[in-house]
Amino acid sequence: MFVLLAQQSAGPSGINGFLPFGRGSLMLDVVFLAMFVIVPLLAFSLWQVKYKRNYQLHKALQLTMAIVLLVAVLLFEVDIRVNGWVHRAEPSPYFDDANKWGCLAGRALIVHLSFAVPSLVLWIVVVVQALRKFSRPPSPGPHSQWHARWATLAAAGMFMTAVTGWIFYWLAFVATK
Ligand code: HEM
Repeated sequence: MFVLLAQQSAGPSGINGFLPFGRGSLMLDVVFLAMFVIVPLLAFSLWQVKYKRNYQLHKALQLTMAIVLLVAVLLFEVDIRVNGWVHRAEPSPYFDDANKWGCLAGRALIVHLSFAVPSLVLWIVVVVQALRKFSRPPSPGPHSQWHARWATLAAAGMFMTAVTGWIFYWLAFVATK
């Protein structure tokens, strides 16, 4: 994600994505689509723990999501670092190469990154602490209060990351002049 900010320009390269309505790269499209799976799965996992007290399923779902997200983010970073994204945004009326961070798409990316970066860090901390401090199999205990507070924030952050990411994708890679 930092790479997105650092990346000033790049040649038109990289593997094109598969979404017919967008100009995203393969990994941009994978992450865009993955968030449509992660968000409902996250809601289901929270519902399972809160109302069904199914701690084991909650743990399994959260660990699966953490691994999928981590792999997707790593591959995404490599894609962006190697191939860039600016050339894909150029046909958009909301992107201006001469005013990258002042145009609407650039501002949307800044908003997106200000959710994505802290959420990713918090997400990792919440998972690591849960693995260290809950019993096995997982059940409520002394770590519950800390977990409920920070995990709720992490979940809200991930939801906002998805929504702001979708908005940026549309502004930069779907909209056409
Ligand atoms: C980023 C990943 C995670 C998120 C966002 C998350 C989210 C949450 C939330 C919001 C609650 C509170 C539900 C309520 O209001 O009652 C909760 C409860 C719980 N979570 Fe997680 N969780 C995550 C990872 C994990 C992991 C990896 C484990 C197990 C190792 C775990 C075990 C539990 C347990 C045992 C509870 C019940 C606590 C209690 O009610 O006293 N969670 N989780």
